[in-house]
Amino acid sequence: MESPTLSLGPFQGITDAPFRNVFKKHFGGIDKFYTPFFTGIQKDHAKNLQVEEIDPRFNDVEILTPQILSTDAEEILRFASQCKKLGYKEINLNMGCPFPRVANKKRGCGLLPYPEKIDALLGTVFERIEMKFSIKCRLGYFNPDEIIPVIDIFNRYPLSELIIHPRIGKQLYKGEADVQRFAELIPLIKAPLVYNGDIVSVESFKRIREQVQPVNEFMLGRGLLANPFLAEEIKHPLCGTLSEGASSIDTDAIELASLTGCPKKSERLHTYVVDLYEDRLRHAGGSPKVLGRMKELWSYLMYSFDESQDIWRKIKKINALKDYEEAVESVFREHQVI
Ligand SMILES: Cc1cc2nc3c(=O)[nH]c(=O)nc-3n(C[C@H](O)[C@H](O)[C@H](O)COP(=O)(O)O)c2cc1C
Repeated sequence: MESPTLSLGPFQGITDAPFRNVFKKHFGGIDKFYTPFFTGIQKDHAKNLQVEEIDPRFNDVEILTPQILSTDAEEILRFASQCKKLGYKEINLNMGCPFPRVANKKRGCGLLPYPEKIDALLGTVFERIEMKFSIKCRLGYFNPDEIIPVIDIFNRYPLSELIIHPRIGKQLYKGEADVQRFAELIPLIKAPLVYNGDIVSVESFKRIREQVQPVNEFMLGRGLLANPFLAEEIKHPLCGTLSEGASSIDTDAIELASLTGCPKKSERLHTYVVDLYEDRLRHAGGSPKVLGRMKELWSYLMYSFDESQDIWRKIKKINALKDYEEAVESVFREHQVI
């Protein structure tokens, strides 16, 4: 079977430019990234687009797609033209955000119950947009049938891709992604389809891939934040224990890994976490505000270790840089990477 295309889903507060760059330096397997959503693009030279987060000097525009959360066609077009000037080839519209303060204003997945509004929005956007335009959405806000009339609308426009996370907004991130429902929608959709939701291991990837054939593009989310080796493991089974770029299977490394619980994985994870922290610290001029983002990451990364809840209890209450640094060292000293 052809190698799958893998992307990393956007996470507001976690997968910013420093994260994406450090992640790419340490791990393989991800073909494409998305920025967490931008909002409030009120002017042609919007201040919030003059930042490292989207500046090509800090991002690889070939593999990054900027995302916007908006229901205003003029704002989307303004965003598109500024992204184009920066060298981007595609933008993505967020129609999946489930948080009530967004969705109750008919934004994010809150727009899905209103196909006629979506039609008007896409009509204006596609009349004037000069770059690729994709959408990320859910099955609905209140119920999973809301997507059916929306698909008819989507099919009228040349979307560059449609990423579907098969939950409804009211679920937030709880319960299970409805893979079966996604599979039923495949023949109805014209746009290139991307599956997103609950890929947490090589096994779950294989199971989902089987169910959603012939879809071969997948967006990873919390599974990759918890296990940064996941995309490598999906693409090159057994290589998680090896150093980046290793082309042949190092039998010594695998034997050692099976005896001692993946020492190379632990080392790689350790350098990644420290590198990301130091990079964030440099960007923030040494401010302890970096702890918020590092803690967010640890709320997922803890699952890479045994006794994950103990680790989380220790890390979540930390407020000082020194305490954080000591806690991270103790995690790698006292816990096994699983
Ligand atoms: C804290 C948090 C922030 C998120 N931010 C965004 C965002 O900015 N844009 C977006 O499209 N999705 C966002 N998502 C959704 C994820 O990209 C992804 O679609 C979701 O976690 C489902 O995939 P998973 O089950 O593999 O985790 C966010 C999710 C969480 C939990």
